[in-house]
Amino acid sequence: MASDETKILLRESEMPQRWYNINPDLPAPLAPPIHPGTGQPVGPEDLAPIFPMELIKQEVSMEPYIEIPDEIQRIYRLWRPSPLYRAHRLEKALKTPARIYYKNESFSPPGSHKPNTAVAQAYYNKQEGVKRLCTETGAGQWGSALSFGCSLFGIECTVYMVKVSYEQKPYRRVLMETWGSTVHPSPTKLTNAGRTILEKDPNSPGSLGIAISEAVEDAATHDDAKYSLGSVLNHVLLHQTIVGQEVKAQLKLVDEEPDVIVGCVGGGSNFAGVAFPFVKDKLNGKKIDIIACEPEACPTLTRGVYRYDFGDTAMLTPLLKMHTLGHTFVPEPIHAGGLRYHGDAPLVSLLVSQNVIEPRAYHQLPTFEAALNFARTEGSLPAPETAHALRGAIDEALKCKETGEEKCILIAYSGHGFFDLGAYEKYLSGQLEDYEYPKEKIEAALKELPEVAAP
Ligand SMILES: Cc1ncc(COP(=O)(O)O)c(C=O)c1O
Repeated sequence: MASDETKILLRESEMPQRWYNINPDLPAPLAPPIHPGTGQPVGPEDLAPIFPMELIKQEVSMEPYIEIPDEIQRIYRLWRPSPLYRAHRLEKALKTPARIYYKNESFSPPGSHKPNTAVAQAYYNKQEGVKRLCTETGAGQWGSALSFGCSLFGIECTVYMVKVSYEQKPYRRVLMETWGSTVHPSPTKLTNAGRTILEKDPNSPGSLGIAISEAVEDAATHDDAKYSLGSVLNHVLLHQTIVGQEVKAQLKLVDEEPDVIVGCVGGGSNFAGVAFPFVKDKLNGKKIDIIACEPEACPTLTRGVYRYDFGDTAMLTPLLKMHTLGHTFVPEPIHAGGLRYHGDAPLVSLLVSQNVIEPRAYHQLPTFEAALNFARTEGSLPAPETAHALRGAIDEALKCKETGEEKCILIAYSGHGFFDLGAYEKYLSGQLEDYEYPKEKIEAALKELPEVAAP
């Protein structure tokens, strides 16, 4: 019997002390990352110039759980366990018989789920004597999370911020600088990757793929620096699983189990964090619909191909088997900056290819409509990325209204939208448009995919 509470809270002492590793539970083996030069699977020595060894071990670990070090747990307690909300007022407004819950990750200091991995990555780099971390950021959520993490451990942080966001969204940059980071508009003249792009197009607005190339190059060419990625990789998704494990404990308190789980997907980390502990149940026979929501303007899971591709534009990263729109993909200027990436996590991609996860794509306007619906009932202002999950969840709740089904719907609420008020202003004044990524552009980008023989 579901309880009537609005916030379902755990005590700090009830916070999970281990991350859940889905790798040994997968329904098929994960294809290994491939070295683009040799065509062979990459080994730890290939990754050592850019990642600390402990994270490389986590990347390939087959242990079902990995202990969270005490120091990370202590920092997590600044905002964890995060509350699980029952969306009573949204349910009422929709007149749905469904029960809607949202796991609210917006209470972390930078405002999203990203510090769950940023703090862990800064910790392991500090342990191995790294002095500086290099990273990329789109709209600034990840860059601010890593800046926060680095500031806690006294590590320098260099952020390559996609130029168009650097110019349009100055306040995330100020937040990163407040935490002590150096932020460059990417492409820059500081790296070969940046200079090559600028020679071809001096006015390049930048992209996540270009910014990743710059950050990887910076880390690989400086001995005391390493690279940090905010999504996509196995260890990043692993760190986010604390979220779904908390949800499990919270739903148990109110005697609930999810029938539907909905999250937004950029690189896949917040979605995986909530969904993976439940994917295990689904693989063991429970009936759960697990829905990954992405933008129509960057339809990686719904219209991309499941193939090996580079993670960046300058082709510096290992090849990952994932859903991709091609590493030369240039995104349309939609406001969900964190969802504008050409690839997706190999773990999420595998589960989509096995029909365990169902992908859906949404346009920007219905997404903002869902965000407003949520803000005007529940009060909180979602990030434009998060609004994709809300669109998916509201559609599911409306289906329940038609069928009369009393489903339990769980939403991964990944972050707040306080730095995205410019986007809200545009929506409210009717200036936002929908973008559908043209079929021809997808086909052209896919022609650039590298050929990889199955290892
Ligand atoms: C609030 C928020 N949600 C979702 C995402 C998408 O990333 P991921 O798919 O790794 O969770 C981002 C990325 O920046 C974000 O800032």
